[in-house]
Amino acid sequence: MTGVRAATPADYDRIIAVVDDWWGRPIHGILPRLFLDHFHRTSLVAESGDELAGCLVGFLSPSQPDAAYVHFVGVNPDFRGTGLARRLYETFFALAAADGRTVVHALTSPRNTGSIAFHEAMGFTVVHGQGHDGPGSDRVLFRRSLAPGG
Ligand SMILES: CC(C)(COP(=O)(O)OP(=O)(O)OC[C@H]1O[C@@H](n2cnc3c(N)ncnc32)[C@H](O)[C@@H]1OP(=O)(O)O)[C@@H](O)C(=O)NCCC(=O)NCCS
Repeated sequence: MTGVRAATPADYDRIIAVVDDWWGRPIHGILPRLFLDHFHRTSLVAESGDELAGCLVGFLSPSQPDAAYVHFVGVNPDFRGTGLARRLYETFFALAAADGRTVVHALTSPRNTGSIAFHEAMGFTVVHGQGHDGPGSDRVLFRRSLAPGG
């Protein structure tokens, strides 16, 4: 049985130790410790016994009162295809909606076709963001309304 709970700052070390393996490429640079120190209350950890099964790092935008943002989601390869990322997102949607947020944003790299397919399956709209993070940076931007019928 895989349980999902709010993250704590102490979860950082076990998350950062596995993310490069989970992504299959060096990715740890996009998750500095500050995310767990300052956004753990809106981030989630999934565990099966002592094993880390997945995590979601997200926050409620301090500057856009209607918006929440998912910075990072990853599922242990041994637990993929079981609906765990969907469960993490739905838990995050519920906590964001409880705070009055009506839209969730996320982004990925155009080469991350698995992430794009996952976000489409989760009902996000997909927009190409050329130069989004500066010259030469291509991103795929995701947006999903939390409003009923939205
Ligand atoms: C992307 C990722 C989080 C999906 O996790 P998962 O737990 O296997 O996903 P789920 O089982 O919850 O799938 C939810 C839906 O997305 C779809 N989906 C998930 N991964 C998919 C893929 N690679 N290709 C096509 N569809 C996919 C599923 O078919 C499912 O659709 P359904 O609910 O309509 O049947 C996981 O593959 C992963 O950790 N990848 C590496 C890290 C990464 O790229 N993270 C995202 C960018 S920050």
